[in-house]
Amino acid sequence: MKNTLFLVLLIFVISCKQNQVQEFTALDYTPYIHDADSIDVKVSIDLLDSNRWGLDQKDLLADFGQLLFHKRSGVRRANCADCHSKDNAGTGFTNRAKGGGEFLTVYNNLYRNLYGRETLIEEDHKPFKNWSNLNAYKLHQANRILSKGVVDSFPLEFQVGVALNEAHFGNDLVLECQSDPFFNDMSRELTGGPFNLDIMKAAISAFQQKNLVTDQNRINRSYKSGEQVESLEGMLLIQQKGCMNCHNTAAIAPTRVLNNPILDSIKAPRLDVNLKDHSGYFHTSEKITLYKAIKRCDEIASTELGVEPYKYRDLLKIKTFINKELYDSRYGSK
Ligand code: HEC
Ligand code: HEC
Repeated sequence: MKNTLFLVLLIFVISCKQNQVQEFTALDYTPYIHDADSIDVKVSIDLLDSNRWGLDQKDLLADFGQLLFHKRSGVRRANCADCHSKDNAGTGFTNRAKGGGEFLTVYNNLYRNLYGRETLIEEDHKPFKNWSNLNAYKLHQANRILSKGVVDSFPLEFQVGVALNEAHFGNDLVLECQSDPFFNDMSRELTGGPFNLDIMKAAISAFQQKNLVTDQNRINRSYKSGEQVESLEGMLLIQQKGCMNCHNTAAIAPTRVLNNPILDSIKAPRLDVNLKDHSGYFHTSEKITLYKAIKRCDEIASTELGVEPYKYRDLLKIKTFINKELYDSRYGSK
C-alpha cells in the first residue's frame, strides 16, 4: 500500500515536472514579442508639426519611404525592392541579387563584341547573401548593420546612404527625386525644405521600421489574443543554449563558414525573420539546409558552454519552432 502511494506520488511529481516544460511566462516570450503599433520610429531629421493631409507626420514619412523604396534609379534601373521585396521574407527573390537586373550584362557583352574592349561600367556583384530586411527596426537597438556589423547611431539610414552612393545605385536617384514636384511638396510638408538625401534616408528607414515587422507570427498572435502555440519546446531548447545572446543582440560572432571565411566574424541575424523562405543560411549562401545551419550553430554554442550538442530530435524541435511560431505568413513566398 505504502509502495503504491509512493509510486502514485512519484508519477504525480514527474508529470508536474513535464507539464512545467510547456508553461511559459510573458518573460520567456519577451525576446520574440513585438507590436508594429508601439515601435517608436527613430529618424535623424526634425519633422514639422503639420497635418495637411490628416496624417501623423511619421506615418506620412513612412508612406513616402515606401514610395522611395520602389523608386528606380535612372542609371542602374534598380530599387531597394528588387533585392528586399516584401515577399520571400524581405530578401527579394534571389540571394546575392545583382543590382539593376541583366541590363548591364547584356550591354557590356554587346559593347565588347562590337568595340573589342571592355566598358567602364561595372556590374553590381554581391559578395554576401541578402539578409532579410524584416524586423530591421531591431538593428537600432544594437546600432549595428550589415554582415560586418558597421556601427552607426542610425544604422538604417546609414545603409540607404551605402546603397545609394556606394553599393547599388548612382546618386542620380536623389537628383531625379529633386526634380519631381510631388516629392518636393511632400518634403516641404514634412520638414519645411525641398527634397534631399537626408529626407530620403529618414523616409526609407521609417518605412522599414513601421511596415516590415513580423508581429503577426504565431507567437505574437498567441501573446496578444491567446491563440494556441504548438511548438514551444523548441523555444526552451533555444533558451537553454543561449542562442538569443547572439541572435537577439546582433552580437558579432565568428563566422560559421569555416573553409571560406569572407569575413572572420559576422553580425548574428535574428531568428524571427521567416527563415524558411531564405535559401542558404550563412552569409556566403552556401547550400545548407535550415536543419544543418541550426546544427552547426548549436555545435559552436555547445562548445562555448562546454555542454553536449543537441541530438536530432531536439534540433528538429528548434527548426519546427522557428518555422511555425516565428513565421509571419504575410511575407511568405507562397
Ligand atoms: C542589388 C541588390 C540590393 C539592392 C538594390 C539593395 N540591397 Fe540592401 N542588401 C543587399 C545585400 C546583398 C545585403 C547584405 C550585405 C551584407 O550582409 O553585408 C543588403 C543589406 C541590407 C540591409 C542590412 C540588413 C542587416 O541585417 O544588416 C539593409 C537594412 C538594406 N540592405 C536596405 C536596403 C535599402 C533601403 C535599399 C535601397 C536604398 C537596398 N538595401 C538596396 C542587397 C541589395
Ligand atoms: C556565438 C554566437 C551565436 C550563438 C550562441 C548561436 N548563433 Fe546562430 N548564428 C550566429 C551567426 C554569427 C550566424 C551567421 C553566420 C554566417 O552567416 O556565417 C548564425 C546563423 C544562424 C542561423 C541562420 C540564420 C539565417 O538568417 O539564415 C540559424 C538558423 C541559427 N544561427 C540558429 C542558432 C541556434 C538555434 C542557436 C542555439 C542552439 C544558435 N544559432 C546559437 C551566431 C550564433
